[in-house]
Amino acid sequence: MRKKIVAANWKMNLNQSTANTLLEGLATIENAACEVVICPSFTLLSTAQSKLPSNFSLGAQNVHPAPEGAFTGEVSASMLKDMKVKYCIVGHSERREYFAETDAFIAEKIKSLLSNGITPIFCCGENLQIRQNNSHQSCVESQIRNTFSLFTAKDIESVVIAYEPVWAIGTGMTASPEQAEEMHLHIRQVWKDMFGETAAAQLSILYGGSCKADNAASIFAMPNVDGGLIGGASLKLDEFKVIVNACK
Ligand code: PGA
Repeated sequence: MRKKIVAANWKMNLNQSTANTLLEGLATIENAACEVVICPSFTLLSTAQSKLPSNFSLGAQNVHPAPEGAFTGEVSASMLKDMKVKYCIVGHSERREYFAETDAFIAEKIKSLLSNGITPIFCCGENLQIRQNNSHQSCVESQIRNTFSLFTAKDIESVVIAYEPVWAIGTGMTASPEQAEEMHLHIRQVWKDMFGETAAAQLSILYGGSCKADNAASIFAMPNVDGGLIGGASLKLDEFKVIVNACK
């Protein structure tokens, strides 16, 4: 279902003490008009699960596609389900770049999440060189087509997409609202071509990449932007509050 979402990607940050403080602060966010999803590291899932305001959702940052077995250091979708995790980020550019994750491997993760009732937040986005070559639309389109080619419209009903231009992540260089809207519209058209009109109309597409208190409202105001995936700014309570309140 198409809904407004602000998801916090805490990445490899915080400890029990600093996470507790931030979670207590999050409880002061009232009447959010969007769904707020908090994605902490695995070690903080339990803390977040017990401390999260009841109207917020818990997310994870990674999953291994296998159901169980000899995969030292990995966590399965059923383990996440056991922790009441509702969302999981997949395809993040940091995992593509530092852990060599391919579209095919990301598709396996998505399959496993969906079969455990967890909503994948699928990240896609082009690097700076591709943007400068003006190939950004075809780059993102092929990430989506390669990943979802074996899925049906029924399979992908709950999937959320996050458009995250790599050149904007953690750099302070945000896409303009027009650049975000252009890509989000393109993603919706690709989704329509692959899965039909209803699936495209129902798809939530989030923007991520240096989304901050001072630019969130103008990005979220675009017709095809349904919220944001927030990294650095989600670690600062005051900043994150403004972003959540900008999403309506
Ligand atoms: P950023 O990260 O907001 O710090 O740019 C976003 C993300 O990587 O999800």
